[in-house]
Amino acid sequence: MAKILVTGAGGFVARHLRRTLLRDGFEVISVSRSSIRPIGGERVLTVSGYGDPAIHDMARGCSAAIHLVGGGRQTIHRQYHETNQAPATAVAEACRAAGVPRMVYLSGLGVSPDAASGYFISKYLAEQTVAGSVPEPVIFRPSYIIGSDDHLTSNLRRQERTGAITIPGSGRYMMQPISVHDAVRVLSMAATKGAFAGRTLDMVGPQTTTFAEYVRAFADRKTRIIHVEMEEAYRNAVLGRSTAYELDDLGIMIGGHVGDHGTLRRITGMRFRTIPQMLQSGGTA
Ligand SMILES: NC(=O)c1ccc[n+]([C@@H]2O[C@H](COP(=O)([O-])OP(=O)(O)OC[C@H]3O[C@@H](n4cnc5c(N)ncnc54)[C@H](OP(=O)(O)O)[C@@H]3O)[C@@H](O)[C@H]2O)c1
Repeated sequence: MAKILVTGAGGFVARHLRRTLLRDGFEVISVSRSSIRPIGGERVLTVSGYGDPAIHDMARGCSAAIHLVGGGRQTIHRQYHETNQAPATAVAEACRAAGVPRMVYLSGLGVSPDAASGYFISKYLAEQTVAGSVPEPVIFRPSYIIGSDDHLTSNLRRQERTGAITIPGSGRYMMQPISVHDAVRVLSMAATKGAFAGRTLDMVGPQTTTFAEYVRAFADRKTRIIHVEMEEAYRNAVLGRSTAYELDDLGIMIGGHVGDHGTLRRITGMRFRTIPQMLQSGGTA
């Protein structure tokens, strides 16, 4: 039975992935800074940070590591290089030293060598460090990953409870969400399937939509949908006032990133959930 290391195991994608890996018959070692409860027969390692040498010991004998540490927000206490780049570098080094052949990394849709935002730059540098450390790197660049408990859904639900959802500007910028159900099936395959080795792939669903259309499909009939001027949304975000959308949320939204679904479909042979299916099922895996 192949052994898989999952880092960032307390996060949204990891919570779904760990179940899927166990269901697919993998032996799972989950690493988190929080004390997570083991599920099924998995082993859990609690660390103070991703530079913990115990990760190297746990990685020995693993066929792959799936690195899910990361984030799209920074504060004076926690900056992007600490959230995205440094943990990826530490885990990639542990994998290299432990002889783990494959490391699967979740970057972000829109990340490229031309990256200009702090978030995209840190993700790009993390990609580079993963690609340079193990013989079979697999990099995914996901769009919004949708489940019942993802960041976008939680945000829209929070707003819905106030009776209104705000759309910055026109809302005509594009997105290509993927169900967490499909994302974790892809990750489970990517852990061992040969066709993924050395690839950088967009992790996007089968349909594109505008943000405004997505919000209209998400919201119940009683919820008001309000457009605010983009300038006002940005000013609030820049000044750190409490808003639904933080600075880099807006950057990612306005970027209107869409990607290549066809390659993912061909490599996996999967049928992916449509946006209505994602919204209906809450993306449950
Ligand atoms: N969800 C999406 O829509 C989406 C879209 C594009 C890209 N991604 C990327 O996919 C990966 C997984 O996403 P997710 O939604 O599952 O994220 P998540 O729920 O925010 O979990 C990410 C995990 O990263 C670890 N982490 C966060 N900040 C850290 C820090 N400063 N230092 C060390 N570890 C830290 C935490 O792991 P522990 O607490 O377990 O240690 C956390 O649970 C991330 O890299 C994310 O950027 C996600």
